[in-house]
Amino acid sequence: MNGDDTSLHADTGVTSGLFVERSLNEIRFWARIMKEHSLFLRLGFRAEDTQLIQEANQFYRLFEQIEQTAHSFNNQTDPEQIRRFNSEVQQAATNIFAFKRKVLGLILTCKLPGANNFPLLVDHTSREANYFRKRLIELNEGKLQALPDAIIKENVFFLRIMADHAKFIGHLLDPSERKLVDVARDFSNDFDQLLYQAKDLESMRPQSQTGPLLDQFLDQNRVSVSSLRDFKKTARDLIEQCKIKSIIHPLLADHVFREADRFLEIIDMFDAHLTGGSKS
Ligand SMILES: [Fe+2]
Ligand SMILES: [Fe+2]
Repeated sequence: MNGDDTSLHADTGVTSGLFVERSLNEIRFWARIMKEHSLFLRLGFRAEDTQLIQEANQFYRLFEQIEQTAHSFNNQTDPEQIRRFNSEVQQAATNIFAFKRKVLGLILTCKLPGANNFPLLVDHTSREANYFRKRLIELNEGKLQALPDAIIKENVFFLRIMADHAKFIGHLLDPSERKLVDVARDFSNDFDQLLYQAKDLESMRPQSQTGPLLDQFLDQNRVSVSSLRDFKKTARDLIEQCKIKSIIHPLLADHVFREADRFLEIIDMFDAHLTGGSKS
């Protein structure tokens, strides 16, 4: 692994208390997200796509069940039971990933003319499923990435997610909402830039993984993520109050807001580890 000689991380593995807590936290967040993806996909299918609609409904129920089970457990639950639950959920995430890629294939070969899911949105939701799946594998294997690696990889993943969100919002707003469409486009450009910066830092690993560079990287990303999060919150409220014209489902507006909030929490967590753990 690159950069672990900088020792900014705790490489002791995951203790069982932390293992249960982290697992439940990931599953509660992402199972709800997967459930909502099933709904968004279903809404974008045509009335005659009954098979796809049925499959999407099945995933909705599956992830709803997973969400409920995750809430029925707590931090005192037997780690062995959580380990088994993680594997089950990981299988479900793998299956919804495959479903999303199948749908993407159908769209890109023009088999679903007139359907309303953007290819990039389907690809995006499949990347989120894959992220969830990989996180569960990591937890069960008890492997923690070295902090400098984790910081760069998570940011590369989430910055692209944020850039996509800005693009979706821009394209799902009514074209007559010119001012808001402009704001969304500015966010899209801002996050595309941040993503390229993150990739540059990634290609300069491990030399780029110094405390000051990583610290500045997190601070800069935080500024943009927090203003995007606020914009999404405003958009969500305006949509709920029926004050703007769009084809954005109110739940989608809330969904992308929650994902930005999650990214901010991750940035703050990294920042705390970086400043708390940097002895070098
Ligand atoms: Fe999502
Ligand atoms: Fe997303």
